[in-house]
Amino acid sequence: MADAPEATDIHRTRVENPVVEARGLTMAFGSTVLFRDVTFQVAGGEVFVILGGSGCGKSTLLKLLIGLYRPSEGAIHILGEDMEAAQGAARRQLLSRIGVMWQSGALFGSMTLLENVMLPLEEHTRLPRAAREEVARVKLGLVGLSDAANRLPAEISGGMAKRAGIARAMALDPSVLFLDEPSAGLDPITSAGLDQLIKDLARDLGTTFVVVTHELQSILAIGDRCIMLDKQAKGMIAEGDPRRLRDHATHPTVRAFFRREAA
Ligand SMILES: Nc1ncnc2c1ncn2[C@@H]1O[C@H](COP(=O)(O)OP(=O)(O)O)[C@@H](O)[C@H]1O
Ligand SMILES: [Mg+2]
Repeated sequence: MADAPEATDIHRTRVENPVVEARGLTMAFGSTVLFRDVTFQVAGGEVFVILGGSGCGKSTLLKLLIGLYRPSEGAIHILGEDMEAAQGAARRQLLSRIGVMWQSGALFGSMTLLENVMLPLEEHTRLPRAAREEVARVKLGLVGLSDAANRLPAEISGGMAKRAGIARAMALDPSVLFLDEPSAGLDPITSAGLDQLIKDLARDLGTTFVVVTHELQSILAIGDRCIMLDKQAKGMIAEGDPRRLRDHATHPTVRAFFRREAA
């Protein structure tokens, strides 16, 4: 990673064999452009953070990356494969290698945590029930919920629900996990615990994480690298190591964010 002197906060880190690659993404709804020319690469095993103020397009970018929306312009490669070109069985195969947890956690309320985690295995594998249950128990163990396997979502705390959501997203052993604001609505201590879990999973399993968040503490705790989107700029205003951005950013919005100042 050679560092040329730079006039912007976009460092354009080059990555060998990126696990996620966005090239020149533009997204518009009707005639309203949300962002333009979003370009970045995520390395294997990295915790990559997408940050930015409310309404700048973070969740939309996540939906593009997992193939839920199509970009107006640009290309997305996941695990080396072109999202647009992959169709039919190839697309299903590609999608089975990524896991997603949405902001709400979205567990099924009438099912136990174990049944929730078993669900993707039911949909995507031909494993017999006993094997599905075994895999689901292992995933719940990974997130520290072995003892809560038979509880319903209504019977657990918000932090536990997020952990269960992560366990379900990991059911199929994805190479990449996408998390949309995992710590939203959690108290700081529970949120720090979730950060630690993400770091442990990335380190121990080599899973790549793409995490949307706007919590500075989280970003500095878990982020190997980040990009910052901005509503006014309609695009990226920063890319790089969050600690370095905190210390050296020049863009006023980036500086304000990392130093907790009013812009
Ligand atoms: N399907 C859609 N159709 C039209 N506008 C949308 C759609 N999805 C998101 N938007 C708009 O895009 C903007 C960014 O949304 P979002 O990606 O959810 O932002 P963030 O996650 O950063 O808060 C919002 O103003 C929202 O109204
Ligand atoms: Mg969002």
